[in-house]
Amino acid sequence: AIDPQFHENREKVDEHEGHDVWGPVEEPEKLGIHGTHVAVDFDLCIADGACLEDCPVDVFEWVDTPDHPESGKKADPANEAQCIDCMLCVDVCPVDAIDVDAG
Ligand code: SF4
Ligand code: F3S
Ligand code: ZN
Repeated sequence: AIDPQFHENREKVDEHEGHDVWGPVEEPEKLGIHGTHVAVDFDLCIADGACLEDCPVDVFEWVDTPDHPESGKKADPANEAQCIDCMLCVDVCPVDAIDVDAG
């Protein structure tokens, strides 16, 4: 599962589409965690898609990640600022790749 303490245990190494990327990143095998309020561990995501289907405010968008060992696309929290903290995505992800910091 995603480390809920990732902000303390990892470092910001990049930005992507306006959100933070938390390392380590060594493309294409290691992609790190995308987002801060809505965080997706790209190294755990298997492209199940339940988060995209269920999020009521369309926070997630697919991003292609060719040659990643778990899946060739990931759910990117492209619109994390719109999150309403319903926690549906956290509940439905089969590999617990998502952390939402509802405060
Ligand atoms: Fe969307 Fe709810 Fe997840 Fe926020 S907590 S990203 S609103 S499904
Ligand atoms: Fe990935 Fe979990 Fe969404 S596997 S596509 S983060 S439901
Ligand atoms: Zn991203």
